[in-house]
Amino acid sequence: MAVEVLTTPDGRAKTALSRRHAATWFAAREAGTPLPVGTAKPPLRPARPDAPELLDPRDVPKRKPGSPQGRIALLHAVAHIELNAVDLHWDIIPRFAHVNMPLGFYDDWVKAADEESKYFNLMCDCLEELGSHYGALPAHAGMWRAAEDTVDDFMGRLAVVPMVLEARGLDVTPGMIEIFRKADATSAVAALETIYAEEVGHVAYGSKWFHFLCGRHDHDPKDAFHTLVQRYFKGALKPPFNEEKRAEAGLPPDFYWPLAAS
Ligand SMILES: [Fe+2]
Repeated sequence: MAVEVLTTPDGRAKTALSRRHAATWFAAREAGTPLPVGTAKPPLRPARPDAPELLDPRDVPKRKPGSPQGRIALLHAVAHIELNAVDLHWDIIPRFAHVNMPLGFYDDWVKAADEESKYFNLMCDCLEELGSHYGALPAHAGMWRAAEDTVDDFMGRLAVVPMVLEARGLDVTPGMIEIFRKADATSAVAALETIYAEEVGHVAYGSKWFHFLCGRHDHDPKDAFHTLVQRYFKGALKPPFNEEKRAEAGLPPDFYWPLAAS
């Protein structure tokens, strides 16, 4: 199921399949007959649509967030992040299926993938409402980099993807909501508020399973986090941090402050 999602190129088709597979997984769980986890070989890179064109972040044109074009560019960038997040959450399942994990681990990433699928669709709806669509603008090419770098490091994947990249989402989303609120863009505000309310759960899943694996291997979680982020994440973490939401997600200040740009 994960590999099917990963190898589907079109965004709307990918998220539709993702949501369908998530529903199947949870229906089986609720019936008390969980699906076997099994094994499958995920592609190194997920299938993607022909558009958007993927550019080096330095070549992605910057637009003023105060303008209508700037708001479209912002929604487009979020849609692109969400599509990558769908693939990231499905990828972690077959990628590390050789590691014996409790069923709750799979529940969490299937749920996160389902939610990211919903967010991608919401962002596409907002773009279409403004006369644009996903694929109309160039997008960031480096988004899958974290997945490739941690392709054989399970704890590294958890440290970088949910606990650094998704935690960054908690820091920046309130500012984005303000931009759309000032523009009276009600559907974008509602969509971003949904993302903001639920995204904390994805960071929490990362922290939960990172701590679980640290416990299994008798590692100090904070030291392990610092080592892995320094190994796989290029550059310092950017304050200001959303300390409240990070705490809610199980990320204490001594995890991220020592990695921050001074
Ligand atoms: Fe997420």
